[in-house]
This record gives sequence, C-alpha cells and structure tokens, in this order.
Amino acid sequence: MILVTGGTGYLGSHAAVALATAGRELVIVDNLCNSSASVIGRLKRLCACDVQFIQGDVRDTALLSEIFLGHDISAVMHFAGLKAVGESTEMPVDYFDNNVNGTIQLLVAMRRAKIKTLVFSSSATVYGDPATLPITEDCPFAPTSPYGRSKVFIEEILADLHRAEPDWRIARLRYFNPVGAHESGLIGEDPAGIPNNLMPYVAQVALGSRNAVNVFGTDYPTRDGTGVRDYIHVMDLAEGHVAALDHLEQAGGLLTVNLGTGQGHSVLEVVKAFERASNRPIPCLAAPRRKGDVAQYWADPSLANTLLHWQAGRNLQQMCADTWRWQLNMADTS
Ligand code: NAD
Ligand code: UFG
Repeated sequence: MILVTGGTGYLGSHAAVALATAGRELVIVDNLCNSSASVIGRLKRLCACDVQFIQGDVRDTALLSEIFLGHDISAVMHFAGLKAVGESTEMPVDYFDNNVNGTIQLLVAMRRAKIKTLVFSSSATVYGDPATLPITEDCPFAPTSPYGRSKVFIEEILADLHRAEPDWRIARLRYFNPVGAHESGLIGEDPAGIPNNLMPYVAQVALGSRNAVNVFGTDYPTRDGTGVRDYIHVMDLAEGHVAALDHLEQAGGLLTVNLGTGQGHSVLEVVKAFERASNRPIPCLAAPRRKGDVAQYWADPSLANTLLHWQAGRNLQQMCADTWRWQLNMADTS
C-alpha cells in the first residue's frame, strides 16, 4: 500500500488515480488546507476501489506513526506542501515550516516504521533562471524565492539521508509546469480566488468569469515576445510517479529527474490552443512583466525517458481540452 500525502490536492489526486490504475492500493493523508475532502468520492469512482482518507498534518509525527502502524505501507509519495511562489516571499517561515519541517517529520516517522521508499515533489523552480536550455538535472541550484529554497533544502536533506543510509530509495522529481485535468472531467485544479497560473486563468476567461488574460510581458527575447514554459499534462506527470516508484522498487538508489515534455510553449500559443479547445474567443491584454518571471525554460526529459521508460505523451491541445472539460463540469456543479 502507498501513502499519498497531499492526495486530495491537484497533483496528488491525479497520482492517486494513476496508482490505482496500476493496481496499487493507497491511503491519503491531507490537512485540507488547500483542497476539499469532496475529491475522495470522485476518486473512489475513478479508481473503482476503496480510497482511504485520513485528515491530518504531515508535521504530526504521532499521527503518521499511527498510520504506519495501522496500514501495510511500503512507500510514500509526498505531495503535501505549500506552493505559491509570491505568498512564500510574504510568509517564508510558514513555507519552511510546512515544506521543510513537514518533510523532516515525515522522514522521522518513516524511519521509525522502517519504511524507506519515498517519491518527493520537487520543482523546476530549483533551477531559477537557467544559463542554458534545455535544463538538465545537473544544472546548478539557483532558486529565487523561499518556496524554491524550501525545495532545494529538502532535496539536500534527502541526499544527505541517502548518503548516510544508502538503503533508502528516494526519487526527487522536478516538475516543470503541470496543467490539465483527468480526461473524465471529475478531478482537476481548482485554485481559490484569482488564479496565479496561466492555464486556470485562461480557462476562466474562456468561461466568461474573467474579462481578459493579462499577458505578463510581451517583449521577452522569445519567438513572439511572451514567456515560454514546458507545460506537462497532469496525467503524464502522475504516470511519471508510478514509473519512478517502479524504478525505485527494482533498482533502489537516489533518483533525480526532470518531469517535462522537452517542448516550450509561449503564453500566446497556450491562449490560441485554448481558443481551439473551447471554441470561444479569449481576449488578451498586454501587461507589464511579472516580477521574478524568467523569459523561457523547458526540460531535457531524456533521463526520465531512458531511466524510467516514461515519456510525456499528451500534447498542448489535449491539456487545454481536458482543462476545459473540467472547467465546464465545475461550472455545472457550482
Ligand atoms: P495543492 O495545493 O493542490 O496540493 C497540496 C496538498 O497538500 C493540498 O491538498 C493541501 O491541503 C495539502 N497540504 C499542505 N500542507 C500540508 C500539511 N502540512 N499536511 C498535510 N497536508 C498538507 O498543490 P499541488 O499543485 O498538487 O502540488 C503538490 C506538490 O507538488 C507540492 O509539494 C508542490 O510544491 C509541488 N509542485 C507543484 C507544481 C505545480 O505547478 N502545481 C510545480 C512543481 C512542484
Ligand atoms: N502568465 C501570464 N498571465 C497570467 C499568468 C501567467 O502571462 O495571468 C505567464 C507568466 O508570465 C509565464 C507563463 O504565463 O510566462 C506561465 O506562468 P505560470 O504562473 O502558469 O507558471 P510559472 O512558470 O510562473 O510557475 C509554475 C508554478 C511554480 C513552479 C514553476 C515550475 O507556479 O510553482 O511553474 O514548476 F515552480
């Protein structure tokens, strides 16, 4: 059985479906600080199996020890954490407490229970503004926010742990820009308030709940002047986790891999693809560059391709179509 921390959140819920599809049993722990327990019912439908849910905080080592005692858990996928870059600059201590301390408490409880297989959610944000493209895993750390630093600190802690106790099996997965939703339209990303990220914002403009997309920067040295990112479908990312877990179980070790497609898309390309997917016009307004943004980056995913035998298969059009289906479903049920 796999423990999925943060499993009612955006990425964790999709990983739960991928795990169940691969025939794995799972139990979710989440404190619901950025998600709702209502996702569990939908997960049960999608997984066609029982999905156990425990409401709690990963910083609660006593609770984690209890979970490990009461379930036959062989590995942990650790998604729980705070993830808003801007917010992290305003409340850095909360970010270090939740992300870094949360991971330490999880490791303490895992160690006590002799569970030594961990898949960890890291981020391309550890690279900052890369000197060369595409980004390979040996590019240096250069985080530009407390959020990014929290991921670097955790990655370093995991490397030190593995150095000291090589029987741990650890994957540090560096995600590029996860977008989209499960193709059923039953689960997806549901940001509270005004979306920070491009894809959910574009979806709300298509729906008519926002007027226009503010394009943050139209004078970048990119093909159309707007920012370029490596968008990866959330189900490809989820399947990458299952591949990483399989690899750890077979080969052990400390694994550090990028999860991306290797292809960059500009803001305007995303808007155009979403117009096609939704068949609706999406007005855009040129806006100043957003502080802290970089012009462009995309992954070199070849290590994940060769080592994990995994490759992102869903294209930008499918990312937009699945986001749109989810957005329409949410609008219907709200
Ligand atoms: P999310 O906010 O949707 O999910 C995180 C979940 O963790 C939420 O359900 C939240 O309630 C829970 N949580 C937070 N702190 C907790 C705690 N202390 N104890 C228990 N539960 C807690 O975010 P997401 O997009 O699914 O991201 C999952 C992970 O992936 C995070 O670690 C994030 O930093 C990382 N990541 C996300 C992205 C992205 O663009 N979404 C990119 C790179 C890395
Ligand atoms: N953008 C707009 N308008 C918007 C929102 C975004 O033009 O309303 C632009 C941004 O300037 C950028 C691109 O769209 O050029 C993508 O922006 P996102 O906010 O969607 O994504 P980021 O690349 O800024 O950051 C995301 C996550 C981070 C994570 C990083 C790498 O928010 O947490 O990907 O994984 F670290």
